[in-house]
Amino acid sequence: MTPHDDTASVPAPLVRPRRLRSTPAMRRLVAEATLAPRQLVLPAFVADGIDAPRDISSLPGVVQHTVDSVRREAVAAAEAGLGGIMLFGVPLDADKDATGSCGADPEGILNRGLAAVRAEVGDDLVIMADTCLDEFTDHGHCGVLGTDPRGEQIVDNDATLVAYNDLAVSQAAAGAHVVAPSGMMDGQIAAIREALDREGHQDVALLAYSAKYASAFYGPFREAVGSSLRGDRRTYQQDPANMRESLREVRLDLDEGADMVMVKPAMSYLDILRQTAEISDVPVAAYQVSGEYAMISAAAERGWIDHDPAVMESLTSIRRAGADIVLTYWALHAARLLSEGWGAR
Ligand code: PBG
Repeated sequence: MTPHDDTASVPAPLVRPRRLRSTPAMRRLVAEATLAPRQLVLPAFVADGIDAPRDISSLPGVVQHTVDSVRREAVAAAEAGLGGIMLFGVPLDADKDATGSCGADPEGILNRGLAAVRAEVGDDLVIMADTCLDEFTDHGHCGVLGTDPRGEQIVDNDATLVAYNDLAVSQAAAGAHVVAPSGMMDGQIAAIREALDREGHQDVALLAYSAKYASAFYGPFREAVGSSLRGDRRTYQQDPANMRESLREVRLDLDEGADMVMVKPAMSYLDILRQTAEISDVPVAAYQVSGEYAMISAAAERGWIDHDPAVMESLTSIRRAGADIVLTYWALHAARLLSEGWGAR
């Protein structure tokens, strides 16, 4: 008899939670959080002036699309049963200006991408547009610059709202089902709602980036959109130290007419996501951002982490924390794993 066979020496557990983990079928039966392709939204970049998709070095497997390849990506997304696609525009540097005017141009790259995707997939996939100026401004800020009464340069909140209205209306006209203001300007949801309604776009929904933090995890995104930002976004994006502020932002956006609210990034903010899910009476989204993708990809590339289980665990945890919808660069990959029976393990 080895010492370990002497079970009489330990008290028999009164409760045995392991019973519910004993077989794949049992685990499947009792799993709480579910993951399905329809809950996933694929962020995609469409770039001007390129004639073939271009790799993004800090986001291996993600590309800057041409209008034609983003159209095909949307078809793939629809065929995979994804919930939606979220488009970001990457204009030519020469087209950027202080107010990001190429964003609202019907012939601008993002609007051309939206129109092409809408023409191809129609209503089979929810088409979303990032409604923000940072991709389009030569200074890289999410808003229009101004000066405060002391002459200091600031991102001018109310002037930015005017620009957002034009941008959102142009995106709705191009075919977006959902516009998603991500600039964290005060009053952006109410302003855009009113502008959309005024132009007859009552049916276009608003996905509010309600709780968006000033995060180091957006690093690879800046490469993806060729951002010209100098400085940081701390006067408009939130301080990672704060939780109550997020709940206030969410409540404001709900009052202003948000159809969905979002927390971003996801993995470092699962507590915010849980709290948001508890107070929101509209669907809650979470954005697994570029840096989250890059971290797992890089560790997996070095053989330090097992890629697919890490990806699926991260997505499941975001769902468990309270996200109804998850934006992730792995949306197509995860849908394929799910179709191959992932989860029934
Ligand atoms: C702003 C915007 C950003 C992201 C989405 N929308 C960048 C930022 O706020 O600096 C980041 C997404 C990601 O990192 O994957 N238009």
